[in-house]
Amino acid sequence: MLIAQISDPHVTTEGTAIRALVDTPQRLIDAFRSCAELPRIPDVILFTGDLVNDATPEEYALLAETLVHAPSPILPIPGNHDDATLLSATFTASGRCPVPLPEGDGPFNYAVDDFELRFVALDSTDPGNHSGLVTPSASRWLDTTLAKRPDTPTIVFMHHVPYPTGSWWFDYNGVAGAALLRDVFERHPQVVRVVSGHVHRVTSTQWGSLTLSSAPSTAYLSGTGVGDGPPVIVDQLSPVQLFWWTGDGIVASEADLPVPAATLDLRDMNRDWNAYEQAARAHGPISKQRFGG
Ligand SMILES: [Fe+2]
Ligand SMILES: [Fe+2]
Repeated sequence: MLIAQISDPHVTTEGTAIRALVDTPQRLIDAFRSCAELPRIPDVILFTGDLVNDATPEEYALLAETLVHAPSPILPIPGNHDDATLLSATFTASGRCPVPLPEGDGPFNYAVDDFELRFVALDSTDPGNHSGLVTPSASRWLDTTLAKRPDTPTIVFMHHVPYPTGSWWFDYNGVAGAALLRDVFERHPQVVRVVSGHVHRVTSTQWGSLTLSSAPSTAYLSGTGVGDGPPVIVDQLSPVQLFWWTGDGIVASEADLPVPAATLDLRDMNRDWNAYEQAARAHGPISKQRFGG
């Protein structure tokens, strides 16, 4: 199956500083479009938080307008810029999420068993703070939830990045309680990937054999985190992250940027395309002598 991850669109209304930098609703629509134009439409989109910027009803109304462009079902989770109740109501009304979402003031944790892979949403928000938090009760919930299907490959998605990315002003040295999380993952080797957002930049690390990664924002990038760089944000496009589940592992990739780009069709360049195609579909070998170096 094919999974797309879209993160941190920070949808906001006109008149804000962010919107003066970038048209965030349009960037989100463009990200949906780049998913819709893939040769294979993603089976699901993981939407990893900071869906709006100031958590106002007007922003969620604007978010709802963008969701009609999504080509796939969406599994959302709130970030530190979201209001979980408004987020839940927006998705319930939109019909874009295939499962009932948490409502009310409790943690926004849920598991989805409708796909070939299992998806577990872990709420890393800490009410009143921008920084993230994994509490002992959250780690117990995760442990119990993962224990229910130990043989099903699982992706855990959360907003905050549970490891230091090197950005002193953005990741605050990771998430408080991350050690609890690491203990849980060590007990559940069926977790094949952990994906986050929040830092507005592609990063990844390893916890043993488990890869954890962060997606860029569809709205704007954060200035390079490693080192003592200034706290700047950059109006720069980033591709949607893709995860292809092969049946025994995850291959990470990315969609094309939603901007016009020149293409060259290899079928027009190769004097014996049929033979090349036949050999490539048979997994090689592809002779240099026959098809050029
Ligand atoms: Fe964000
Ligand atoms: Fe965030």
